[in-house]
Order: sequence, then structure tokens, then C-alpha cells
Amino acid sequence: MDSKLLSGPGLPGPAVLSLIAQELLRPDGPETVQYVLSASKDKPAHILHYFARHDLVLELLRDSKNRLSTKHYDQNMGAIPGQINLLPGEDNDQPTRWKILAAALDHGRRISRKDMKGAAAFARTLARTTLQNIKAGGGTETNLVREYGYVIPYLFAKEFVGLTPKARPSLLFRVFVLARNFRDGFGHKRRASDTLKAHGPHASANEYLLWSQLMFGQIFGNYGLRSKVLTFVSGLASKLYSKQVERSIRDNTPSPAPAFTGGTLIERLHEVKPDFVGPNTGKDTGKLSEEAYDLHVKSIVFEIIASFHILIGISFGHVLDVLLRQNIDLKDFAKKLGQKDGYFLLDTILNENPTTALVFRRARKPLAQYGIAKGDGLCFLITAASKALVPDGCPVSPSARRGECPNIPTPKDRTAFLNFGPNEHKPYELVAGGKRSPKAAYDIAHPCFGQYWARAILAEMFIALADEEVGLPDMEPADGAGAGVKNFAGIPDSFMVRFKS
Ligand code: HEM
Repeated sequence: MDSKLLSGPGLPGPAVLSLIAQELLRPDGPETVQYVLSASKDKPAHILHYFARHDLVLELLRDSKNRLSTKHYDQNMGAIPGQINLLPGEDNDQPTRWKILAAALDHGRRISRKDMKGAAAFARTLARTTLQNIKAGGGTETNLVREYGYVIPYLFAKEFVGLTPKARPSLLFRVFVLARNFRDGFGHKRRASDTLKAHGPHASANEYLLWSQLMFGQIFGNYGLRSKVLTFVSGLASKLYSKQVERSIRDNTPSPAPAFTGGTLIERLHEVKPDFVGPNTGKDTGKLSEEAYDLHVKSIVFEIIASFHILIGISFGHVLDVLLRQNIDLKDFAKKLGQKDGYFLLDTILNENPTTALVFRRARKPLAQYGIAKGDGLCFLITAASKALVPDGCPVSPSARRGECPNIPTPKDRTAFLNFGPNEHKPYELVAGGKRSPKAAYDIAHPCFGQYWARAILAEMFIALADEEVGLPDMEPADGAGAGVKNFAGIPDSFMVRFKS
């Protein structure tokens, strides 16, 4: 074993994490760095083992089932104890949640992760219509990240999952928005056109956005560093979000013009309910109480909406930022996105500015080789691991990269980039035997379940943006050339554009 030891009263923040990554990635660096989180009044000391070498990260993640667990998930993802258990969480009933989700997706007209044509077509319509509406608004400035980047995935999730937007914003939400708009520009000059809105067509998207800005920026990037105030406020926001989810499930409103034949996810979850609920519940009957089923449904919907809206929204901002900062021609990029291996190009760009920096596991058993005891934590620096595969100075521009950097990953290196966890380019690729089963998605490596939707939606968003008729060719950055995307609470928040006069 080759390991370095660090310790402290709190988990390391981004600066220390970057030093840990540097140490791990030195040519003769250690395989793991151990971090001892010192004991506090109510918690014993906890040991965390950091990994950043790509080969080790992959090897350990791909064999998750026997050695590692995802036990940390529920408490860290803003789930509400007793009410929300996430799909990768680890209570006894986790397999049931995956079974319910699989049954709902298979119900009637099957939704397959292998076929994204319908999803792409719907995302295209949403993207084009939204841009046309922005354009129709005239010469006013628009925040492209908030009014487009987060809105398209929200609108997609709204239709796919079946959300019922609220008629009027809640008081709590209005208070949040006031507080959010109060701080002067978060490091940049606030402009009248760049405030979060509690009313209007995107108010509902903003409500989810606000929740996730409080939660998500803290999750993958700054694990464990949340201040007490932020924890309190995120708890409130989490409850607000949960109420929206409950309302949507209760209302179960079919879409007036369904984009997906076979019904929304919520309709499907209601329809498969009789297969899971029975008068005699328990292990021997395999049936659930109505209450238990409803809690599973709430958990599934909670997680799926958040993943669609926020992770895709954040990724839009990250890709846009790379394009702007590296002066990548949008038209060239969009053209290549639509071609074979276009999705790999998207992964390459996301690798420059990844959405997820870390994933965590718990050791189910001792891993003596790395000095890991049962119950210890493992933290995989997935961003650092895959960034190290691309040597410094390798251009990511679609036309330049191949010739100038022959050793960087190609579409054949399916698991090179880890932005989606142990990445897959085909569904179930990492599952034993490549077979589909309700258990398949969570059994082995926990690759991102939604990555095919994410890539399809993101690609359509950039293709529409590059389009002569509806997109950017007609817009200019309101802050002049060279400005990048601005962040709030660790996630992309603002890039102002205006239509050329
Ligand atoms: C660009 C957008 C996205 C990014 C960057 C992303 C990232 C990730 C990552 C890193 C993991 C692995 C977590 C771990 O191993 O601990 C993961 C898992 C997961 N993702 Fe995504 N995700 C995205 C979009 C989505 C979407 C749209 C959905 C919804 C359908 C989704 C659903 C899930 C689920 C359910 C898991 C858990 C899988 C399991 O435990 O087996 N994700 N995602």
C-alpha cells in the first residue's frame, strides 16, 4: 500500500481537493490519500480514501457491487428523512424502487434508453420555440443560462415526468427570490434584466432552480462543507420542492398535447401501482402497502426531475463556458454534434468543465491492498481522473484536436470520461453480460441512468443555438466578447445576450 495521510475537522474544500489530486496524479504519486475527519462531539472520527488515478477509479467503481456501497446518498442529496429514498440510496427497499421505475418505463408503449429519437425531436422543438420566443421579445437582454439553459431541461422534464406547475408562487419561494436578488450581482454588476423571477412563464422552472442551486452546487463539488445557515435554507427549499412533487403526483394531469405516447412517468407510475400494492403485504406476498408504494413514487419523481432539470441545466452552462473561453466555433461544434460520434465530442467538451467532480462510496468489506477498513469512505475525484487523460494544451475544438493530440481518448475509449460516473456509451454496457433487468441499472457500477437523455437534450440545445434562423448568429454577448458564464453557489447562473439590432 502506498498512501499519504491528512486530517482535519471538516472535509477538504476545493483548494485542498485540488492539492490531493495533484499528489495522486504525480507520476510516482501514491495510489490513495487518506483523510481523517476528526471526531466531534456527536460523531466519531471517519476515514476517507481519495482516488484520482483513472485506472484505479474505474477498477474500483466497476466492481461496486461486492466491495462498495452507495450508503451515503440519501442524507447528502437533500432527501427528506422518512420521505425520500433515492434510487442509488441503500435501504432494504432500493431494489423495489428500481423495479417500480423499470415497470413504469416498460408499461404500455415502452420507453427505452436505447432510442433517443423521440426525446431528441421533443428537445429540438422546445429549444427552437424557446429561442423564437426570446427573439420575439425584441431587443431586450436575456440571460441565456437561466432562460434557456435551465428552461429546456425543465420543460422536457415537465412533459416527460408530468409536472403540474403551481398557479401562484408560494410565499416561501417569493422570499427566496427576494433574498436571491438582493445580493448585488454576486461579484458582477447586476442589471435590471438579470434577476430571478417569481412570476411569469418560467417561474416554476425557477422554483426548482432555486432549490437546486441551494442543494446541487454543494453536492458534487463541496461535499460536507455546507454551513449551518445553508443547511437550514436548503432544508426549507427541499421541502418546497418535495411539495411540488407531491402535488404533481396527486394531480396526475395528462398533458393536453402529449409529447410522448404512452403517458407521462407519473401516469405510468399510477398505472402500474396495482402490480405492486396488495392487501397482504410483506416479503412472502411481495406486495407493498399503498403508503410504501406512494413513498417510492415520490422518491423516484423527486430524483428524476432534479436530475433532468439541474444536471442538464448545469451542463449546458459548462459547455457554453468552454465554447466561449476557448473560442470554439459554435457552428462547427453544432454540426459535429449532429454527426456520428457527436456525443463523444460533447463528453470531451464536458470533460473540460465537468458537472460532477466527485462520487462517493462506502467500503462493504476491508480492501487491504489500499489500507481501507470496512465502513471507511472512498472518494473518487472523477473530474481530476479524466482530465488527466487529456494532456495540457490539447485543444478540444472539434476540428483541431485529433491531429494535434494523437494520444487523447477516442470514441473507442468508452469509459475515458467520467462526468456521468463510470461512463457508458451504450445502455447497460457496464452491466454483467450487458443484459437488461430491473436490477441491472444499480447492480454493478452505477453509471448514470439518464446520460442518454442528457446527451440528446444537450446536443439539440446547442444545435438550435447555432441555427441561423432561431439562434445565436443573431445574438451578441451583452458584456462584449470574451465574457464567460457567471456562477452562483458553484453552478452556472448567468450569460447575458441581446439580439443584434
Ligand atoms: C448532464 C447531466 C447528468 C450528469 C452530469 C449526471 C451525472 C451522474 C453521475 C456522476 C452519476 C454516478 C453517481 C455515483 O456513482 O455515485 C449518476 C447516476 C445517476 N443518474 Fe445521472 N447525470 C446526469 C443526468 C441524469 C438524468 C437526466 C437522469 C434522469 C433520468 C439521471 C439519473 C441518474 C440516476 C438514477 C443515477 C443513479 C444510477 C445508479 O445508482 O445506478 N442522471 N449521474
